[in-house]
Amino acid sequence: MAAGTTNALCVLVMLLGVAAPPTAADIPVNCMYSDLLGSWRFFVFGAPGARFSTCSDGLGPDTTQEVIKLQKLNTAIDEHGNKGTFTLIYNQGFEVEVAGYKWFAFFPFSKINGTVISYCDKARPGWVHNIFAQQWSCFYGQRIDPPAETSTRLVVADLSSKTTPRQFFKYNPDFVDAINQLQVFWKARMYPEYVGKPMEMLEKRAGGSRSRLFKSPVPVQVSEDVKRLADTLPDTWDWRDVNGVNFVSPVRDQGRCGSCYAFASTAMLESRIRIITNNTQQPILSPQQIVSCSHYSQGCEGGFPYLIAGKYAQDFGILEEANYPYKGVDAPCEVQPHARYFSSNYQYIGGFYGACNEPLMRFELVNHGPVAVSFQVYDDFRYYSGGVYIHTGLHDSFNPFETTNHVVLVVGYGHDASSGLDFWTVKNSWGEEWGEDGYFRIRRGNDECAIESIAVAATPIPQLS
Ligand SMILES: *[C@@H]1O[C@H](CO)[C@@H](O)[C@H](O)[C@H]1NC(C)=O
Ligand SMILES: *[C@@H]1O[C@H](CO)[C@@H](O)[C@H](O)[C@H]1NC(C)=O
Repeated sequence: MAAGTTNALCVLVMLLGVAAPPTAADIPVNCMYSDLLGSWRFFVFGAPGARFSTCSDGLGPDTTQEVIKLQKLNTAIDEHGNKGTFTLIYNQGFEVEVAGYKWFAFFPFSKINGTVISYCDKARPGWVHNIFAQQWSCFYGQRIDPPAETSTRLVVADLSSKTTPRQFFKYNPDFVDAINQLQVFWKARMYPEYVGKPMEMLEKRAGGSRSRLFKSPVPVQVSEDVKRLADTLPDTWDWRDVNGVNFVSPVRDQGRCGSCYAFASTAMLESRIRIITNNTQQPILSPQQIVSCSHYSQGCEGGFPYLIAGKYAQDFGILEEANYPYKGVDAPCEVQPHARYFSSNYQYIGGFYGACNEPLMRFELVNHGPVAVSFQVYDDFRYYSGGVYIHTGLHDSFNPFETTNHVVLVVGYGHDASSGLDFWTVKNSWGEEWGEDGYFRIRRGNDECAIESIAVAATPIPQLS
């Protein structure tokens, strides 16, 4: 490591930080895997208190610098030749693990005239700590090779949230009829409880209008080895019924907060604790703690399970629901002295973002437990009442809805004889009244609505018993 001083980049990042407080909204940045490849210089600063800080406010002077090279497919190499790994995190940020340290940061962005400019050759202030979540510092970063050019430095995306007048969900029997007449795979029904509710609430329940899937990676080709592994798996699986035993915690309701990512994350950890302990431990974990306290997500505006079931649970641990009950609003963080559940390990299925496919998901599911997935919610999905969902392409002209990115939990898979479709069985967080007792099935093997593109697994640590 070489000594360094605060420089112009630091000032730029500071300005961007002011323009976009880190916890105010699901961040509208849009960067790609190819932006990450190359050599990065990480500027380390502000060690004391880094663990509980946002790292964005009050940048101290740089203390050290580190150059880390990121190369295909997921190899990180430091200045001394030590090899580690890295992953893109959706289109939002990245995590690097090398020489015993984990580096995590979001990409910076700014908003000019309603247009978002992503600075994909930079890392906005983030956190670095050792793999045991100790020795915390803050850092920001700059890709130095290939150097930024104007053409590649700025990825411009028009993500301005439209200022539509407040709209309320209306009863639309024609849309339900149209879905049911067009296809036989799944049934739509009206949900009277939605009528009169603000559209923005329904959009938040489905991930929030700002968390759209712009481009999800195409699932990777299935290799011969993976094919052979998958052939050893059962034809059907359901963690709610493994020889008559249920390992899945009850369905919950996220309410009007865009906290699906927190519910999918806690649901995965809850189920995996039941599996690891043969149901002798059945904690219900606290999504409110995540909404209120996590700097790795954006409260009721969204977040990502890699950073919550994985990184946040590893770095901070998650309390039980009883000790931090759900409110469904962005409330201030309250420190609680109670026992927490941690994650020992986490990864995108396949090892890094972009390496997922259907047989790998099944392999992880059967061998280790439910997996968190993101998928694209179109307006026909909210009317789902049963069957195997495939997107109809129909749009609800009464209740125009932005496509959103919703996070849910895959608990099983199978083949539906009546429709002839392979499906995933998925736990939602819209209450037990919705869908098939709070669950839905969705076509499997075709990356339906991008559900096979970004699955996440995390391994929780039970309490000593
Ligand atoms: C923003 O819009 C205003 C008015 O249309 C224009 O004068 C200004 O140049 C724009 N700024 C940028 C950075 O594009
Ligand atoms: C798991 O729990 C079930 C039900 O209580 C019990 O029958 C079974 O023997 C347990 N399995 C192990 C490996 O302890």
